[in-house]
Amino acid sequence: MTESLKVFGNIPSVRELLERHRRAGESIGLVPTMGNLHAGHVSLLEAARRQSDVLVASIFINPMQFGPSEDLSSYPRTFDADCEVLQASGCNYLFAPQVEDIYPLGMAGQTVVSLPHISALHCGKSRPAHFDGVCTVVCKLFNIVQPDRAWFGLKDYQQFHIISRMVDDLNIPVSLIGMPIIREDSGLAMSSRNGYLSAAEKHRATALYQSLQSAAASLARGQEFRLVERLAAEQLQDAGMKPDYFTVCDRNTLLPAQGQETRLVILAAAWISNTRLIDNLPLDL
Ligand code: PAF
Repeated sequence: MTESLKVFGNIPSVRELLERHRRAGESIGLVPTMGNLHAGHVSLLEAARRQSDVLVASIFINPMQFGPSEDLSSYPRTFDADCEVLQASGCNYLFAPQVEDIYPLGMAGQTVVSLPHISALHCGKSRPAHFDGVCTVVCKLFNIVQPDRAWFGLKDYQQFHIISRMVDDLNIPVSLIGMPIIREDSGLAMSSRNGYLSAAEKHRATALYQSLQSAAASLARGQEFRLVERLAAEQLQDAGMKPDYFTVCDRNTLLPAQGQETRLVILAAAWISNTRLIDNLPLDL
């Protein structure tokens, strides 16, 4: 019989409990989330289950990574359904702290983990403090749970790149695993924010992945990078989406590729009504 999921909010209790597992020589895997779990999260949990003796998930809607005009208050909160998903995925422990547990003195005076330059590009242009909030909370989660390995979805490609840099720069002893994007049959990348869309908007939003695929085909034919980006932005506009950015990047640095690079990733974000969606497509030329 599968053991039932144990839920913790308190930092000292989760630490003490995981320390016992660590002393018993068991490996600890962490899947950090903001809840509203979907098939993308399940793929992380399944991979983590296979490679960890003890599987911990966290659910924390981190206020620090939301801008003042963003969707913090409306972000979907589906705790009971999430617990069922975690239980079915064989997760042992859920760490689900309150904001006061993570930021006991408030966020204003909080030490911030900030990776310069790259955090200001792409998503960072329209979400200026977003990656500081992500790095700060993920660093805290790593310090609290002290996992051997942690799994993240590659839909948030820039996030994974930045967290990997943070782990290297701060010598945090954790191995990171990035898992491929899980898509709906339409090609739309799974995201909690898809829940904001009407059926018609969801249909129109498939243009984002289609624009990435067209761009990848054009790049493979040798079309110039900046021209490919302009045509993709037009394709998104024609489909009723408002492009935020669409950039052919060097996969190692995430800087805009200049033309000689062969290991690429196309990063894109676009608005449909009030919802901002992101997607990406890695490709080798
Ligand atoms: O990708 C997410 O769900 C969040 O950004 C993360 C990594 C859980 C940090 O809050």
